[in-house]
Amino acid sequence: MSSTELENQRLKIVIVGHVDHGKSTLIGRLFYDTNSLPDGKVESIRKACEAEGMEFEYAFLLDALLEEQEQNITIDTTQIHFRTARRNYVIIDAPGHKEFLKNMITGAASADAAILLIDAHEGVQEQSRRHGYLLSLLGVKQVIVAVNKMDLIGFSEEKFEAIRKEYTEFLRPLGVHPSHFIPISAKHGHNIIKPSVEMPWNHEPTILNALDSFSLPPSRDNLPLRLTVQDIYRFDERRIIAGRIEAGTLSVGDELIFWPDRKRSKVKSIEAWSAASPVTQSSAGRSVALTLTEQIFVERGQIASHTKDTPVEGREINARLFWLSDEPLRLESTHTLKLGTQSVEARLVKINRVIDSSTLNSATEARSEIVKNEAAEIVLRTRRPLAFDNHNVITETGRFVLIQGSRIGGGGIIHNAVYSDVKSDAVKSENLSWNISEVTSEDRIGYFIHRGAVIWLTGLSGSGKSTLSTALEASLFKRGHAAFVLDGDNLRHGLCANLGFSDEDRTENIRRAGEAAKLLADSGLIVITALISPFAKDRDKVREICSNGGIPFAEIFVNAPLAVCEQRDPKNLYAKARKGEIKGFTGIDSPYEPPQKPELELPTDQLTKEECLTRLLDLTQNLSQAEDSTRAEEINPESSI
Ligand code: ADX
Repeated sequence: MSSTELENQRLKIVIVGHVDHGKSTLIGRLFYDTNSLPDGKVESIRKACEAEGMEFEYAFLLDALLEEQEQNITIDTTQIHFRTARRNYVIIDAPGHKEFLKNMITGAASADAAILLIDAHEGVQEQSRRHGYLLSLLGVKQVIVAVNKMDLIGFSEEKFEAIRKEYTEFLRPLGVHPSHFIPISAKHGHNIIKPSVEMPWNHEPTILNALDSFSLPPSRDNLPLRLTVQDIYRFDERRIIAGRIEAGTLSVGDELIFWPDRKRSKVKSIEAWSAASPVTQSSAGRSVALTLTEQIFVERGQIASHTKDTPVEGREINARLFWLSDEPLRLESTHTLKLGTQSVEARLVKINRVIDSSTLNSATEARSEIVKNEAAEIVLRTRRPLAFDNHNVITETGRFVLIQGSRIGGGGIIHNAVYSDVKSDAVKSENLSWNISEVTSEDRIGYFIHRGAVIWLTGLSGSGKSTLSTALEASLFKRGHAAFVLDGDNLRHGLCANLGFSDEDRTENIRRAGEAAKLLADSGLIVITALISPFAKDRDKVREICSNGGIPFAEIFVNAPLAVCEQRDPKNLYAKARKGEIKGFTGIDSPYEPPQKPELELPTDQLTKEECLTRLLDLTQNLSQAEDSTRAEEINPESSI
């Protein structure tokens, strides 16, 4: 079995609790009861205790173990292992370890399950609450609450139940729902591995049985690829990229994008340091060294992904932050933000909410700083673009730390990042980025032999918009142009099916149609719209959307007097409106604002359909002419940027 597979077999647990609530004893006991200690260890400690005239304590076992580990620099001192018949466990924090909170937040220690320890005698303490909050923040879902030192309260069911009630109520709003609430005595071995005879009222399993009932985390191999670049090595002509696969799987031949630069290349080889056969694939949790088919500029701090399921790129981050430092985190202050191997200056631009992690009370007044042990919902703005993920999508690239001075001041997890390429000037969600296509507008012009454009027809119902739009579309097609009609009635069958004819709904109808038209024009099409679009401000907005996107836009006033439209009444709607069967009908009891400066006005009561069409064709061909655009770009190469 490979080391990664073995790693995946292990359940990582964290034991959290107030310093004096018996963590060391519990861990010592777990080692002892599961025979996880080196031979003779218990005996030698017993003897040492006797010699000193001290009572033997299980906590000493742990101390001795840690001491031994510290002398052996190859072993990570914060990781200690034990096993049951079912599987291996690793406890990822050492009791009394000062870096515990930091490890948890930074992900140096990420737990699959947690034991929250409470002293039966002392009850729920501030720290017990804080730890509960942290587990919720970090998304640890498999939780056991162990109420320790039951022997000190005479194994009282009543007192145990009181603690259970109080803590459960505290944890509930946090979304932390302990799988088990177990009364134990770590010192005397009650309910650790053997059920306690002193607590016959208890129906919960032992600690070990409860742990064994938990599941292993799902493999990170199936997540989208995230490779953090650690270093670049040059050997002769070759450049070798060293990195770590935080999530996903990497294979030779894969096309990669390096964020935030977005340079692309393919994996030429995965270098093996010692393997006899060539490596063609590598998976989550591994460090790899790879070469690329094309020499692109890659540097430490970048994140590589596949071309699909890419990370979010942005300069604004919504996060939940936990602050650890004595020195408060102040609004508008700047700190180094570290995410994976990325390191960038970040400014705290907003504090949305501050929460006292032990009471869960939100500060009512607006706050300009976050103090030690407070959690907050914040917005950070970075100096350079950063590649990241939502914490609940990919944990490793969804968390970061803020450095204060030379130390970790606090850590946070990212949420609300939107994986989307939708861009709008009224973007509600934050952490958006705009995905840039590899196909340029020049490529599209070359393909279609014309530019994408929006021909916006506006006018009363029955004025001739639909008729002219479909005629124009057909004529353009005959000339080899790619054109498409967005018709008001058609849109209201789908994209705008949830909209009626109130002023607000019409505004939204036009906004959607405008955005859709702009996107289609972006793709290279000549888009012809046929919507009443009665309000000038809505039409102006579409003009602005197009102009911002570099899309040629023309407003066409299809102008027939109301009386003429009413007489035509192709859908028998004016008649209905007059009878009061349709309310808010444009021209009858809902206004129509004629365009003040349309690019073209077509009085359809005076011109024939053919005359209208000729004028429309002239205008459209002018607007979408390919030569003009290329010439414009030759004169001003910046114009398309
Ligand atoms: S707009 O005002 O929002 O631009 P849109 O062009 O999409 O309107 O839809 C207008 C079409 O909806 C008309 O051609 C007609 O068939 C139908 N319709 C139904 N009720 C109304 C109404 N109250 N006012 C205008 N058009 C209506």
